[in-house]
Amino acid sequence: MQATDISTLEAVALAATRSAAVACYAWVGRNDQKAADAAATSAMRAVLADAPGRGTVVIGEGEKDDAPMLFNGEVVGNGNGPDFDIAVDPLEGTSFCAWDLPGSLATIAFGAAGSMWSPGPGFYMDKIVVPPRAKDVIDLDDPPEHTLVKVARALGKEVSDLHVMIMDKPRHKELIARVLQAGAAVQTPAGGDVGGSLAVLVPTLDVDLLLGVGGTPEGVMTAAAVRALGGGMLGRLAPQRDEEADAIRAAGMSLDRIYECDELVAGDAFFVATGITGGPLVGRPRTDGAATVTESLLISRNEIRHITHTTFD
Ligand code: FBP
Repeated sequence: MQATDISTLEAVALAATRSAAVACYAWVGRNDQKAADAAATSAMRAVLADAPGRGTVVIGEGEKDDAPMLFNGEVVGNGNGPDFDIAVDPLEGTSFCAWDLPGSLATIAFGAAGSMWSPGPGFYMDKIVVPPRAKDVIDLDDPPEHTLVKVARALGKEVSDLHVMIMDKPRHKELIARVLQAGAAVQTPAGGDVGGSLAVLVPTLDVDLLLGVGGTPEGVMTAAAVRALGGGMLGRLAPQRDEEADAIRAAGMSLDRIYECDELVAGDAFFVATGITGGPLVGRPRTDGAATVTESLLISRNEIRHITHTTFD
């Protein structure tokens, strides 16, 4: 096995998300989630096939909703370079893409070989994501009211100054009510907790923390970004159906264990996203017939790079 310097893979990661975003852009607003997912997945798979090294998809997206996907355990790359792990969702925010709503992204995270946590049969996890200054004060066992007080103090704010990202899901009804009751403001997108977590990490966006239950692939990708920036994140499996809980127990995994960010991604890692339908993080692909422009974020080694890429035919 070759020594791992995963930063050499940043260019191929950017090419992979760009390619996925452009491929599924043709399906934006066409109410065909499967076709959009399939276009993004096969474009990304084609780029990853030529990645310089040997990568293992530790966690891909799609199993929970039977979408086209890069499969867990799938091996990618041309073998000429480092071994690496990937966590991937070629189309994060499928329904945003289907209905042309802001927030869908082509996403991937790369980590050193063997560094990424596998959630086994777990599709959902409870998450908390905070900026670096609040990383040492979070505990998933705390009631949300305590979390708000501790995070506010760490950030030098009042609870009433906090903006909390929570996906608008029936399972979060009580959580949203309690956060509002405690005096914080909420931002409640219909989905997209990778984008929601990035909003916590990007200092120009006015979001202080993310709370709530979302997908496990999204959790591992988020952990790569959080780790690269020195932020704080905790996660715990949170099955949404009895069969999911039974499968987790049968796999010998705990439903109580809280995972630190450094356990979700236990080594060097970086994260890349390219915009599909636009939003506060990255714009959508644009083309004038001769040139295609994409906007991507590369989060790596304490930096967020916003990359506008123009390809001429
Ligand atoms: P997709 O890419 O599958 O559309 O996921 C979107 C998303 O909102 C994620 O960001 C989130 O983690 C997950 O779905 C939540 O799942 P669910 O919509 O089943 O609650």
